[in-house]
This record gives sequence, C-alpha cells and structure tokens, in this order.
Amino acid sequence: MDKILVLDFGGQYNQLIARRVRAQKVYAEIVPYGKIDCAGILSAGYRGIIFTGGPNSVADPASPRFDPAVLELGIPILGICYGHQLLAYLAGGTVAPAEGGSEYGKAELTVRGGALFRSVPEKSICWMSHTDYVKKTPPGFFVTAETESCPCAAMSDEKRKLYGVQFHPEVTHTEYGTQILSRFLFDVCGCRADWRMDDFIGTAVARYREELRGKRVLLALSGGVDSSVAAVLLHKAIGENLVCVFVDHGLMRKNEGDAIEKEIGGKLGVNVIRVHAEERFLSRLAGVTDPEEKRHIIGEEFIRVFEEESRKLGKLDCLAQGTIYPDVIESGKGDSAVIKSHHNVGGLPSVISFERIVEPLRELFKDEVREVGEKLGLPRELVWRQPFPGPGLAVRVIGEITKEKLGILREADAIFREEVDRAGVRTNQYFAVITDTKSVGVMGDARTYGYTLALRAVTTDDFMTAEWSRLPYEVLAAASGRITNEVKGITRVVYDITSKPPATVEWE
Ligand code: XMP
Repeated sequence: MDKILVLDFGGQYNQLIARRVRAQKVYAEIVPYGKIDCAGILSAGYRGIIFTGGPNSVADPASPRFDPAVLELGIPILGICYGHQLLAYLAGGTVAPAEGGSEYGKAELTVRGGALFRSVPEKSICWMSHTDYVKKTPPGFFVTAETESCPCAAMSDEKRKLYGVQFHPEVTHTEYGTQILSRFLFDVCGCRADWRMDDFIGTAVARYREELRGKRVLLALSGGVDSSVAAVLLHKAIGENLVCVFVDHGLMRKNEGDAIEKEIGGKLGVNVIRVHAEERFLSRLAGVTDPEEKRHIIGEEFIRVFEEESRKLGKLDCLAQGTIYPDVIESGKGDSAVIKSHHNVGGLPSVISFERIVEPLRELFKDEVREVGEKLGLPRELVWRQPFPGPGLAVRVIGEITKEKLGILREADAIFREEVDRAGVRTNQYFAVITDTKSVGVMGDARTYGYTLALRAVTTDDFMTAEWSRLPYEVLAAASGRITNEVKGITRVVYDITSKPPATVEWE
C-alpha cells in the first residue's frame, strides 16, 4: 500500500490534511516532526511527504526545523503554510514577516504554472492564514502562483520534486484544493489509490487471527460506534475468545441497552455479557445533585462493576479498546493506551493486568470507522449514532436522579429525536434534558403541575465549539405537541438557544 507521511509541525489542520489524502484513497499517517528522522522516513517507504502548517515563525531559531537532508532523499515534498516557509528556508531561501502584515482568509490566486496546478484555472480562490512569507525563493525554485499580497504563494523545484504552497489546499474554502493535492499524490508521487476499507478489514482480521491465537481478549463495550466496530472486527478474527462486557448503568436512552445487546450480541453473534447494574448505580446516585459528584460516582462504580465481572471470567490475556486515530494524535505521544482507557471506561481497573492492549481502529478516522462498521454489517442506527456521554442520562437529569425522572426523560427524548429524524434536519447532536423546575399547566380544564423539559440541538464539527441549531418551528412544534400529549409529567417544553461557548453541549 502506498503511503504519505504528514510531517506534523503543530498546525491546526494536520488531521484535515491526512483526511483529505485518505479521501483520495491514499493512506496517510501523521508523525510529529521530532519523532522521525531521515533514516526512519526512508525505511518506512513513504511515497511522498507533506510538511504541515504550524504556529511558529521560521525566523525564530527555536522554531521546529528538520534535517535539510530530507530534501535529498528523492522523495517528493509538499510544504503547506509553515511547511512552505520551512521548505524555502531549508533549501536556502529567505523567510520574513509579510510586509502588509498577516494575511487571513480568502485570496485570489493567480497561477503561473507547475505540476500542482495542471488542472487549476489561472484565477481561483484560495485560503490563507499566515504572518511570514517567502521573501526570496531558494535556488532552483520558481514561483508557480501568487496573490496580491503574497508574491510567492506557491513555488516548486520540479527537478527535485519539491513543492510549497503558502495557502491551505486542505480547507474547503480553497476552490481547487482537492485537485492540487491530487496532482501531488498521483502525478508527482505516483501513488496508487489503493487504500480501501475492504483491504483494511481483511488485513486486520488476518493479523489479529495470527497475533491473538489462543488468547482471551476482553473488550469494554459502551454501545458507541468505536467500541462496537472494534468488537465486531475482533470477533471476526478470534471468535469466541473475544468477551465483551457491557455495563448497563441504567442511564441509557429508550431501548438502547436492549438494542446494543440484541444487535451486537444477537445478530452479529459477538459474545456480549450485559451487566444489569441499574439498581446499583441508582442507589449510589440517590440524593446526589452536584454534577461533578454524579460523574465521579458513575466513573468509580463503573470500574467496580467491570472489575467484578472480569474476575468472574477467569484469565484474560489482552484488553481491547476502540481507540481511533484522533485519540492517538491528540495524545501527542503516538501511544494513547492510558488516555483512551479513561475516555472509554472511565479509568481502567488497576487490579486486572493485561499482557497487551489491542486497538484495531487506531489508524482510522471516525468516518472510516463508520465505513468499516457498515461493511461489517452493523445496523445503520448504530453506525451513525450521535455522540452519547459516558455518564448517560445522569447528566441530562438536572438535580436528583430518580426512576420517575429517568422514565419521563427517556420517553420525551425518544419523541424529540424521532421528530428531528423524520424532518431530516441536519444537526449533529440533539436530545432532551429534564430540568428540576416544575411549573403549572392546564389540561382538560384541570390544573397540572409537572416538569419543565428542555430540548437541545447543536451544530458543530468537533464538539469543542457548537452553535445551537436553528431547527424549523414546525419540528419544535411537533415535538412539543407530542411530548406534552404523550408523556405524563411534563407541563412545559423549552428550547435551548445557547451556543458553546458560553454554554456546554450537555447541561451538566
Ligand atoms: P460538552 O458538554 O463538554 O460536550 O460541551 C461535548 C461533547 O462531549 C460529550 N460528552 C461526553 N462524552 N463522556 C463522554 O464520553 C462524558 O463524560 C461526556 N460529557 C460530555 C457531549 O455529549 C458532547 O458530544
């Protein structure tokens, strides 16, 4: 399989670069600049290298650099933004603060020529975000594109196959970004478009069948897409030797616990042990109203239940996790075992030791995991499930958690999600929250007194920031009408119109 090295200099779009490359069916891996040297690059057999952007200035002696010998390896290089400036610097050019100050946003690109721009018209829109610029192109390089304020918006040394672009081809605002990357991958590097999920599945199954022969593997199944896909993939490799423990804390949404058990355990034949721990969790949460205390109790109780179940299962050799590529990258260490265990199971039991952690999805982005899930036959609802927090409905029941409030919330939440789905509205996460506020209503000439329910829907790329979704009034009206009619105990429905920041997505 042909692969591209995305050499990471700390830019905010590095994952995006790798995703854009993979979208063209070429495998790309991100490696921080300090984690690899020229010998490592050669032995890994990369067909091309992309220097990413980054927040630093090449003029600063402390800025991230790379061995200039990389230019002589005979491997094509594409430098983007900081990477473009670094390429210029390493090749003997000059980088300086841009005379007109920082350039940020859309700019008109005028193309002069060069292999990267073969299918790009003379004038198009590109997206810039920089403070420095390449003042003097290095020997052997020619300017291949410019903008009004950036005379060297792109450069190349076609002989050595070295290319630099000051703008960001990976963002969608750059009109011909995909074509530019594609010229680099296919024309310059000669890559084959051979990164396929079918191959991934086949290779992973064969690999784990071999490596885990005779081993018993434990997987903590949360019901989320990552752990579910990891479970089904490993099950294909090692069958009965995979044991999945699904701790049902009783804080799942309507029918969710049953669906996980039925779909993963039943239909797909994976060995799933569902631990019904509702009573245990609810009794520990009784009377607790502080959100942090709730989270703490749930995390701790989860570990206790998981430990108890594991002890019953006899010797288990390996622990499997649904770690995915962004988790690996975000850890910054290229080894996310510890970090992800916290994500997944709220801290791993310290009393169980494993000889190995198995992470079959650690090379994949979320959309690739979903593709694998679909190919493995997981149901669509599960594969496209919206994010659901580990502590479940506990953080959507404001104030004390009671069975009554949970029951009301489950019904109302299911109706809201149904109405949003029916309308086919695009929003990334949508759910209901039962508040601790009661209010007066009137039904059939009689006074009612019930809970106030809040509906929440957000639009976001990464859940770090989020806009409240402008759901059509008709959807809100349908949801509110059905909820107040069909769910006993709710007298009032409100819609949350706060973005993140200043609010968070979840209420607690
Ligand atoms: P917040 O509320 O922090 O949520 O804006 C951002 C995203 O994270 C999800 N979330 C969690 N996910 N464990 C999780 O696995 C948690 O404790 C947790 N808290 C929030 C939330 O649903 C949203 O998608």
